[in-house]
Amino acid sequence: MNNKFQHLLALLCLLLTAPAMASQVEVLHWWTSGGELDALSELKEKVEETDNTWLDFAIEGGGGNTALTVLRSRAVSGNPPTAALIKGHNIQEWAKLGFLTSLDDIATREKWDDKLPEFIKPIMKYQGHYVAVPVNIHRINWLWLNETIFNKAKIAVPTDLSELIAVLPQLEAAGYLPIAHTSEPWADAILFESISLSVLGAEQYKQAFVDLNPQILASPAMINAFAQLRAMSLYIDKNAKNRTWEQSTKLLIDDQAAIQIMGDWVAGKLLQEKQQLNTKIRCIEFPGSEGIFSYNVDSFAFFKLKSVSSEVKEAQKTLASIILTPELQREFNAKKGSLPIINTVNSNNFNPCTQQAYTDYQQAMRDNTLVPTFAQAMATTTYVQSAIARVISNFIYDKSISNEAAVVQLTNAIKAAQ
Ligand code: BGC
Repeated sequence: MNNKFQHLLALLCLLLTAPAMASQVEVLHWWTSGGELDALSELKEKVEETDNTWLDFAIEGGGGNTALTVLRSRAVSGNPPTAALIKGHNIQEWAKLGFLTSLDDIATREKWDDKLPEFIKPIMKYQGHYVAVPVNIHRINWLWLNETIFNKAKIAVPTDLSELIAVLPQLEAAGYLPIAHTSEPWADAILFESISLSVLGAEQYKQAFVDLNPQILASPAMINAFAQLRAMSLYIDKNAKNRTWEQSTKLLIDDQAAIQIMGDWVAGKLLQEKQQLNTKIRCIEFPGSEGIFSYNVDSFAFFKLKSVSSEVKEAQKTLASIILTPELQREFNAKKGSLPIINTVNSNNFNPCTQQAYTDYQQAMRDNTLVPTFAQAMATTTYVQSAIARVISNFIYDKSISNEAAVVQLTNAIKAAQ
């Protein structure tokens, strides 16, 4: 046997005896802030422990609009990632277009139907088949408040919406930025969502933003919600348009801004910044929306892939499986500031805000005050959500629009987007 032949033979033996090749999982998301990256690294590590490699496809921009635009062009050109952070109604929209793959075999094997809360399952399934897997529950209707500033300025912490609006000029007069806002449509929508929960209550909120009931949309209560938004919008500063939600949180940490109205990914940022939660920076249910829990569920949808290789498909299932393990659920959510999606996770090591969210979530379930966020497309299609967000942003930044006109615009925009 000559040397060359011996070499070839050795290589052949190696190939025949080698264990099944691991693969690469490419995951699209917009988790680029400090706390989000810490949480994501838990998932990445667990994937890499299985010998698969993680290819990060991160597109900056809270709310995910840019990420979803990039995803569209990748998917349409026939080259989707393994999985993508896709939520709520958007999952149905992708599935309807035929892009998503069924996860039923793994869901059956791992009993997802027994593990997941009832209201989550229809969101993750398309025509009865699992096409996505949830990772957490975030609460939207939070107010983050720097108590040191309130104490120094001798201003009482507001307990209802009118008190909240009343403290804004006082905070400004004391030399602080009253609201650390981020002027982007998704963040504007979060502000209006909390206000409308406070003004409308859970029932009317659902009638307006889930049922899209034209009478509620055009009601005096909705006009009042816009009036409250106008009052708050007067305290949104010009720099808000160049500020990310993460920079807004930093302004609270640095004692420059008094409040932020944002979902509890803020808790993840505070943890990453080594803040003791609910001490200097408190998490308060948005005034007037106490007892209501507006939920946002982060989930990964899985794509039909071009490759027919079994390793690639196995890697996809491995990723889906890891997401629902108690270990990942505990470690990821402890850093993300969100609640685990499965209820077998011990939340003792969670921060006080997440613990409060957990108690409030269970109570809201009992009281039927658990509502889907419209600001993050859990309540309606992405088309309707964008239409609503556009009306809200136009209203905030064009002070000539009256409350009555805003309500007419809202009704018309929703009708056109349905
Ligand atoms: C996601 C959160 C994320 C937030 C800010 C939301 O759309 O659901 O997980 O932390 O955007 O990036």
